[in-house]
Amino acid sequence: RLLGTVGAAGATGLALGAAGGAAGYAAAAADPATALATVGSTGEPFHGEHQAGITTPMQSHGHLVAFDLAPGAGRKEAAALMRRWSATAARLAAGEPADDDTGVALDAGPSSLTVTFGFGRTFFDRTGLAARRPVQLDPLPAFSGDRLDPRRSEGDLWVQIGANDALVAFHALRAVQKSAGGAARTRWQMNGFNRSPGITSRPMTSRNLMGQIDGTRNPKPSDPDFDRRVFVPVPGSGSGSPDQPAWMAGGSYAVVRRIRMLLDDWEKLKPKDQELVIGRRKSDGAPLTGGGETTELDLDRTGPDGSPVIPADAHARISAPEQNAGAAMLRRPFSYHDGMAADGTPDAGLLFVCWQADPLRGFVPVQRKLDRGDALSPFIRHEASGLFAVPGGADEGGYVGSRLLE
Ligand code: HEM
Repeated sequence: RLLGTVGAAGATGLALGAAGGAAGYAAAAADPATALATVGSTGEPFHGEHQAGITTPMQSHGHLVAFDLAPGAGRKEAAALMRRWSATAARLAAGEPADDDTGVALDAGPSSLTVTFGFGRTFFDRTGLAARRPVQLDPLPAFSGDRLDPRRSEGDLWVQIGANDALVAFHALRAVQKSAGGAARTRWQMNGFNRSPGITSRPMTSRNLMGQIDGTRNPKPSDPDFDRRVFVPVPGSGSGSPDQPAWMAGGSYAVVRRIRMLLDDWEKLKPKDQELVIGRRKSDGAPLTGGGETTELDLDRTGPDGSPVIPADAHARISAPEQNAGAAMLRRPFSYHDGMAADGTPDAGLLFVCWQADPLRGFVPVQRKLDRGDALSPFIRHEASGLFAVPGGADEGGYVGSRLLE
């Protein structure tokens, strides 16, 4: 009943983007006029302790862009660039036009736009700041399954743009690219998407292009250890980290992997076999040991033949924190589809973005284990990689990265 109405789309935006919850969803859905305005009018504040776009609910449209500083640009130019970019992002997130605005988003509200900035390893050499580079930006180890394209990997600077509207996201992308001026040039760009708010009858975990419910076991901001896992602690807070520079307080590290899905091979598997690859049901994401989506996996349960119900190589078993000395990360991906590749198979998959306070206690140990051969590995290929230090958020009037660059 709700699915056919444009108004329902706005309603989920409210439920996911604000504190609406299921009740807010139902109430707003009953009034399509209110709901219609809601997807556009929901705003994510740019300023704050952490940058927006990390704990923000996943948006329907995204652009991931890496930039390299232009030849001759150093610390001074980088500081001016971050100041310009922060001012632009703050205005767009508030639904205001950018300088020299293109008009593309003129009639839309902020639509949950977030613009998130990060620094890659090479940024610190280019700006003469190598001594202040966090050890957390040491290159990721090589994994046996990697097929990485260096031209689409890493970069001095990284910008993640997300919004619940394609034009709003594109508008922000152009504004960021234009305000780079002569200081930085696009190195690579990837475009992604997720479900639109409002297309399910209740707020649900999103699906990926393999059809799986993906994101169920993500750490939740309400978990007691969420901040410790995802954000670099503030010195003097009692949980300060001796191996992290003070300028990264309130920041996080983003690991970005372009993971191609070998969909022709995957789709040949019977649904039952697809479920064994992950260890969860496709229909509702519940563990193969029963219950609902959020029921714990029973990793010890065996079937009548004595073998584990959730196979030893199931992706959900191997990636679970319980199997990885507690290593956990916040996965916040976009799907991508760039048409057919030269080999005639879909160039589609996951722009995997995961957030953690330290990649050596998040992505790296888990990927090491998956790389030894989880059941999903034959159906995916890591084609590009980036690791970025994403500083804490800016105060009003300040800019992202000021504590490093000033
Ligand atoms: C869980 C799919 C790559 C880490 C899951 C789940 C699915 C899934 C369906 C179960 C539902 C959930 O808890 O979210 C995929 C696909 C991938 C991929 C399709 C590639 C295209 C990765 C990579 C990593 C990773 C590269 C990290 C190195 C995790 C973690 C969990 C998980 C930590 C949750 C485990 C838990 O807390 O119990 N993934 N995944 N995944 N995946 Fe992946």
